[in-house]
Amino acid sequence: MRTIAISALLPTIVVLAGCAAAGSSSTAANTTASTQAHATLEARSGSKVAGTLQLSYMDGGVHVSGQVSGLAPNSDHGFHIHEKGDCSAADASSAGGHFNPTAQPHGKIGSSPHHLGDQMNIHADANGVAMVDAHFAGVSLGSGQDSDVMGRALVVHAAPDDYTSQPAGNAGKRVACGVITK
Ligand code: CU
Ligand code: ZN
Repeated sequence: MRTIAISALLPTIVVLAGCAAAGSSSTAANTTASTQAHATLEARSGSKVAGTLQLSYMDGGVHVSGQVSGLAPNSDHGFHIHEKGDCSAADASSAGGHFNPTAQPHGKIGSSPHHLGDQMNIHADANGVAMVDAHFAGVSLGSGQDSDVMGRALVVHAAPDDYTSQPAGNAGKRVACGVITK
């Protein structure tokens, strides 16, 4: 009697084990998604721009917040993730082009094809300070995948991004650069 009862239950046990495996893999993805990072922006191209930015993964992208100072009063500035985490050059050219793992043209987030590293301009107030509150959709933080921005660079430009000119929105010199680190 007992043997028969266990055999009858076996298919059910196999199905339950399958669900448990699927559940544990999604838990692992969530752990990666909660990664945090920061970037300390240093002046480049002879500027006095500085800043500290915090990054965290949320809503399928990476949120960047913080403050940038030393900008011209009441001015707009291109702000992007660049592909190389190397700010060593005096003009930050070492950071390479915009982060673009999906091979799209430069553009405006939310309304046209764009690089994953593209973002809206940041705006400096009368004191030359910009509060950053930006969301980079579709990128990840510490995932090790193509979309991963960990170890890349955040760059502030001297001029506003026109969201149209190729390959980088005609945003002028790179006045600050910081590597995204844990
Ligand atoms: Cu840029
Ligand atoms: Zn771009």
